[in-house]
Amino acid sequence: MEFMAVVDAKARGPSGCAVIGLYENGELGLAARQVDKQLDGLITNLHGSGDFAGKLGDTLMLPLPAGAAASRLLLIGLGPRASFARKQFRKALQSAAQALSKTGAGDALVYLALEPIAELDMQYRARIVSEVFSSHAYKIPDLKTSPKPKARPLTTLSLATADARAAKAAAEGLRIGAAIGQGMALARDLANLPPNVCTPVYLGSRALQLAKEFPSIRTKVLDEGAIRALKMGAFLAVAQGSAQPPRLIVCEYRGGKKNAAPVCLVGKGITFDSGGISLKDPPGMDEMKFDMSGGAAVLGTVRAIAELKLPINVVAIVAAAENMPSGTAVKPADIVTTMSGQTVEILNTDAEGRLVLCDAITYSRRYKPAAVVDVATLTGACIVALGNHVSGLMSNTPSLAQELESAGMRADDRAWRLPIGEDYVEQLKSNFADIANVGGREGGACTAASFLGKFAKDLLWAHLDVAGTAWLSGAQKGSTGRPVPLLVDFLIHRT
Ligand code: BES
Ligand code: MN
Ligand code: ZN
Repeated sequence: MEFMAVVDAKARGPSGCAVIGLYENGELGLAARQVDKQLDGLITNLHGSGDFAGKLGDTLMLPLPAGAAASRLLLIGLGPRASFARKQFRKALQSAAQALSKTGAGDALVYLALEPIAELDMQYRARIVSEVFSSHAYKIPDLKTSPKPKARPLTTLSLATADARAAKAAAEGLRIGAAIGQGMALARDLANLPPNVCTPVYLGSRALQLAKEFPSIRTKVLDEGAIRALKMGAFLAVAQGSAQPPRLIVCEYRGGKKNAAPVCLVGKGITFDSGGISLKDPPGMDEMKFDMSGGAAVLGTVRAIAELKLPINVVAIVAAAENMPSGTAVKPADIVTTMSGQTVEILNTDAEGRLVLCDAITYSRRYKPAAVVDVATLTGACIVALGNHVSGLMSNTPSLAQELESAGMRADDRAWRLPIGEDYVEQLKSNFADIANVGGREGGACTAASFLGKFAKDLLWAHLDVAGTAWLSGAQKGSTGRPVPLLVDFLIHRT
C-alpha cells in the first residue's frame, strides 16, 4: 500500500472514497464541515434523521453522485469530542480500514488527521494511520486449500493535511508507520507459520534473505558446530533433544558511524516449545509455535529500521532451537556450563528460554554494545501478572527502562516495569551448580529475568517478557507483531 500526505485534496482529482469523522453529538469534524457544504448539508441531515449517531467506531458508507469529489463517502463515528484522544483515533482508523476493505475502492483520502488530538502531533497521527492500515491489510500465510475470494485491496491511501508544514510532518510519519507495519508483518508471518515449516534453519534463511534485500544488513548464521566452538552449553542443551539443529542468527544493521557502539537486540527463537522432558500439558501446546516471537520481533525491527535507513547500528541476535523430549534430550538435574563459564542446574527443561538467552546475551558482549535488550515469550507468570495488554519490562539500568517504557507509550505498545535482583536470585540457589534454571512459582517472571541478569551483569541491559502480548488466542488467534512498534520507537529516539 502506498501512503502519501496531501495538502490541497481537491486539486488531486476525485478519490475512490473520502473518509470523514463525525462526533457523537452531531458536531461535525473540521473536514466534515467542508464536505457538508459541498454536499448541501447531507451530513447534517443524516445526523438529524438519526441515521448516524457518531458513536466511536460506527461507520456509514455512502455512494456519491457522479461528478462529486469522491465516488464514496465513508463516515466514521469519533465518539464524544471531549474524549477523542489517541486511543479513540486508533479505533476510528481501524473501523475505517475495516469498512474500506469491504468496498471496491482502490484508493482513499482520509481526513481524520485534521481533527485536533491531544498529545499527538502530526507525525504521530500520520504514523498511526499508516501503521493501522498496513496492519489491517496483513493476511496470515494460511494453508487453506479452498479458493480465496479475489482481493481488491486498497493500493493508495492519501492523508489530508492543513498546510505544507503539516504535510511534511505527515509524510515522515506515514513513512515510519509503514516501515513499522512491514516489520510487524515479517514478525507475524514468522510466528504464524507452522513449526514444521518455521524451524531454526528456516529462521536463519529468512534472516539471510533480509541481507539480500537490504545492503545495510549483514547476516551470519552459525550452525551447531560453530555454537559448540563458542561453548554455548546452555543453548546446546535445549537443542539436543530435537532432530532440528539449532542456529545462532546474527543480523547486523549498519546505519550509524562505523565505530559507534551498536544496540544489541537478543531474541528467544524457540520454534516449538513442547517443554522437553518436563513436557507441557496438551491443551494449548500448539500455541508454543509462537515461542520464537521474540526472535521474529527483533528481525522485524531490523527490517523496519533498514527500511527507514536509521542512522544507528543495531545487531539482532536470535538463539533458535526446538525444545523436544527424546532419548537425547536434556534431563531435569543435568548440569551445563554456559558460555559465560557459570554452571546451571537444569531443574525444569521447560524453562528453556532463559537457557538459550543467557548464552546469546553473553555472545552480544563481543559487540561492546551501547545497550542490550532481550525479547522473549519467557514466562506464563508474566501473563498472570500483566495479562495480554502490556509486556513485562525488567532492567538493571533505570534510564534504559525509562527509555523503553516511554517508547512503549508513544508507540501504543506498552511495557510495565517489574522488579529483579538479589532477592529473586536467592530463589535460584542450587546445591550442585552456580545457579538453577527455575526458582519456584512465586514471582516467576521476576526470577526468570533475574536469571538473565546474572549473565547481563555490567551490560546496560533490559528484558521484555512478551509472553502475553506477542500473540492472541481464541477467535483472533495469531501473532500481533508486538513489540516491533516499541522497539522501532526506542531506536528512533536513540538517533
Ligand atoms: N514459552 C514458555 C512461556 C510461555 C508460557 C509463554 C505460556 C506463553 C504462554 C516458557 O518456555 C515456559 O515454559 N516457561 C515456564 C517456566 C517454568 C517452568 C518455570 C512457565 O512459564 O510455565
Ligand atoms: Mn518452556
Ligand atoms: Zn518457551
